[in-house]
Amino acid sequence: MSGLWCIVGGLRGGRRLLRSLPYVQKTFVSSPSLTSESGHIRLCGRPGRPQQTQLRFLSQGQNPSVSAAKLKLRTRLVVTLLFGGGVLAMWWFVYLEKQQKLRQQRIEQLQQVALGQGNFSLLDHRGQRRTKRDFLGSWVLLYFGFAHCPDICPEELDKLSAVVSALDQDASLPPVQPLFITVDPERDDVPALARYVKDFHPRLIGLTGTSEEVKHAGRDYRVYASPGPKDEDGDYIVDHTILIYLISPDGLFLDYYNRTKSQEQITENVRNHMKTYIKL
Ligand code: NI
Repeated sequence: MSGLWCIVGGLRGGRRLLRSLPYVQKTFVSSPSLTSESGHIRLCGRPGRPQQTQLRFLSQGQNPSVSAAKLKLRTRLVVTLLFGGGVLAMWWFVYLEKQQKLRQQRIEQLQQVALGQGNFSLLDHRGQRRTKRDFLGSWVLLYFGFAHCPDICPEELDKLSAVVSALDQDASLPPVQPLFITVDPERDDVPALARYVKDFHPRLIGLTGTSEEVKHAGRDYRVYASPGPKDEDGDYIVDHTILIYLISPDGLFLDYYNRTKSQEQITENVRNHMKTYIKL
């Protein structure tokens, strides 16, 4: 009897015939060669082809075409979910790869700019010698100016202090070290700087040195500084670059902010740098 079904199953249009299996069940289900223990009927394929297994549940009186449709739907759903998950995982992987690449490119560009690559050695406002290496591992906001500056330097240092305070509010961010390097070592000695930094953020460190040391530090950041003529009181203005520099914990120059940048803009920018920062 099973030999007959092999031939029938292999014939074109045999599928239609198979759909009438409940009838078949009634007639031939007693044949051990057609039924398995779980109530499924096995049919072999055409001679010379691999054996086919038809899974049609017959024992619970269910319409086989309905249960097959359900199975199909479930399979489609699983396949769709797996495919969707795979696509999402692939997209996320590509996105992370791209971010890492962009970051690496940016770092390479900054290294080519070679800003702040030198190692300054200056005296802080407490009289201690500090080098750039002392600040490795910290985020730094650096500003060059002079204590006698009537308006711009105090404004910029107020802004810088406000940025540091705003970032301090966010406990998830690392602390920022504010630094002030004078471009006027003649008047800004250690005691003058000690008095000056008191007006700003409590962590602000003032740095000074010999004329040569100060010039060297400025050169590394391409800072322009030129003292103007002295008036009858010996007072003078120093024309200088007005920029706040952001330096990463590995001592790389990352960004700069000119006077047009607001406190909020700088805070947001530094925050973004911190969040996307990848340690080299
Ligand atoms: Ni100034």
